[in-house]
Amino acid sequence: MSKFLQKNSSYLNQNSQLFGNEIILELDESFSGNLSSFQNQICNCHNCPLGQTRTNFVFGEGDPNAELLIVGEAPGEKEDLEGRPFVGRSGQLLDKILLAINRNRQKGTYICNIIKCRPPSNRNPNREEIDQCLPFLKHQINLVKPKLIVALGLVAAKNLLNLESSLKDLRGKVHSFNNVPLIVTYHPAFLLRSPGFKKEAWVDFQKIRDFLKD
Ligand code: URA
Repeated sequence: MSKFLQKNSSYLNQNSQLFGNEIILELDESFSGNLSSFQNQICNCHNCPLGQTRTNFVFGEGDPNAELLIVGEAPGEKEDLEGRPFVGRSGQLLDKILLAINRNRQKGTYICNIIKCRPPSNRNPNREEIDQCLPFLKHQINLVKPKLIVALGLVAAKNLLNLESSLKDLRGKVHSFNNVPLIVTYHPAFLLRSPGFKKEAWVDFQKIRDFLKD
């Protein structure tokens, strides 16, 4: 573990015992000030057991000044091997959808995940992994300063919005994450399994396109 993470993890443990999770917000101040230095600062993280099993830390990628920031669930096998988000089959579908709204990873879009390391066998991320990783994502969002966040799937939506609802209830509304508008839609992996929902996803992405026009 780096000195930075050692220092902050004992700080966090000590303070969460005293004050609960609110103190985590203060940690943000010791994170670095641009995306690439922040990536260097956290990429050797071992705050949770996934640090032992990952091949690569998947920080996220895209336009550092993106208006649209997309959050998925967790790196899968291909992402873990390449160290890049959404490079497998669901990533190919996501790229097609982005193209349909005149965007791509280099242009106006930033892509990342709720957690930065692959859970073994692609299981859902657990509470500890999410709690350790979410402060990183929050800082990343603060650095990009997007106009809109899109949560792909229920894991991303529930953990950003901190509520228990169905995807059906969360779609079709503009929520807010730290004062940034947030829209929920289907995860592309779900769309690959259930192509019948692509129509509804297209409705969501047209709304996303129109939101970003204003
Ligand atoms: N699924 C995700 O949620 N994220 C990725 O990066 C790849 C697949």
